[in-house]
Amino acid sequence: MNLPDPRHFKNIVVLTGAGVSAESGLRTFRDNNGLWREYRVEELATPEAFTKNPKLVHAFYNSRRHTLLQSAKANKAHFALANFESTFEGNFLLVTQNVDNLHEQAGSKNPHHLHGELLRARCGLCEHSVDIEGDLTCQSICRHCGGIGAMRPDIVWFGEMPQQLELIEPALSRCDLFVSIGTSGTVYPAAGFLRLAKTNGAITVELNLEASANSGFFDYCSLGLASDVLPNFFHTA
Ligand code: OAD
Repeated sequence: MNLPDPRHFKNIVVLTGAGVSAESGLRTFRDNNGLWREYRVEELATPEAFTKNPKLVHAFYNSRRHTLLQSAKANKAHFALANFESTFEGNFLLVTQNVDNLHEQAGSKNPHHLHGELLRARCGLCEHSVDIEGDLTCQSICRHCGGIGAMRPDIVWFGEMPQQLELIEPALSRCDLFVSIGTSGTVYPAAGFLRLAKTNGAITVELNLEASANSGFFDYCSLGLASDVLPNFFHTA
């Protein structure tokens, strides 16, 4: 079945997941080499984990920040999205579950980071957030309120509200094309975006290495490496 041509739509929402950054050397979560195969979510990615063992949580995110800054570069998939957006005349919203900055690196204008950003920190006392590149520790001081020890990665942990839903959900309700890329479709609310878009009449496309949990509900599906599939789909090859 031929895939639809995104240039023929007016309102596009794209959702990306860890698969889009896999070829940049950043580990996914649930594949064989995925982070959640090695580490326990409950010990690293919940507010309770941070209260119980902040040192361990800081070490995990500090290490991921190091990898991102030292070795990860945007790949062909990130560039395909950015290049398409730069010439597309309709409305284009890029929503990412990824906490890296590789969409920005490729030139995407305003990716919405549903699950927060590794290169930002937030004070648990005053909620002020700032850009960071170095390590966070249990002694980090908030530049805004001066509080000590409450700085945390600006990451959405399990049990917390994803960011910018108030902008994303209306866009999903009015989009005519929804494209899901490199995500296993297991974490809500992102996993529910397909249904919201479809209910409102959008054509839905999955681009992924393997069929996701929701694959059967998409109108179209193309499987392969993001760096191969995206330049073809978005006509940027
Ligand atoms: P997952 O690890 O659950 O899924 C990654 C998806 O990418 C899988 O469907 C793979 O088949 C696919 N994939 C792997 N390599 C690929 C490649 N080169 N090209 C295309 N696809 C590829 O990651 P997410 O779905 O992003 O949340 O996970 C969602 C959320 O769960 C994450 O944002 C994170 C995690 O817990 C938080 O930390 C809050």
